[in-house]
Amino acid sequence: MLPASPSRTSSDASDNHNPRDIEGRGDVETIVTAFYSNIASDPVLGRFFDDVDLDAHIPTLVDFWSSVLFHTGTYRGRPFDPHAALDGLEARHFRRWLDRFTSVVESRYAGPRADQILARARQIATVFQTKLDCIEEADIARRFPDAA
Ligand code: HEM
Repeated sequence: MLPASPSRTSSDASDNHNPRDIEGRGDVETIVTAFYSNIASDPVLGRFFDDVDLDAHIPTLVDFWSSVLFHTGTYRGRPFDPHAALDGLEARHFRRWLDRFTSVVESRYAGPRADQILARARQIATVFQTKLDCIEEADIARRFPDAA
């Protein structure tokens, strides 16, 4: 199943009642750093980040989102690839990921770019999940070639 739309009701202690839009790389850094600030203790997502060097991962994600929003060309990787190796990654993880991301963005920013980053996050999460489903189906077909 594809990820559901993230909840728009969540917020955190940094709620800003007069938010401005995302304006540049510094704001992207704020979002990415806040997203990962306590990821290790997230009950749903934490385990996936046990062995991740966040000091190396965060700049990659800042490059990624800067390229998406501002066409900086600073990210040239293959964003899906590491996710294919994550054991048991499924819809509920993407829902949780989108809830966290939405909360981080909406509590700090509002405007067309804030809308854009959330729309792109939802699109990419859906694509990632569709790819994971295809990999799983292909794996089952390979293992059980006579089924159905
Ligand atoms: C379902 C929840 C998700 C989990 C548990 C997850 C976890 C991870 C992990 C463990 C890595 C590898 C980090 C490393 O070893 O340095 C990674 C990389 C990455 N993730 Fe995710 N991720 C999730 C969803 C997403 C989504 C929805 C996006 C984008 C909208 C995204 C974007 C990226 C990017 C751009 C990279 C870097 C790829 C590279 O190294 O070039 N992730 N993620």
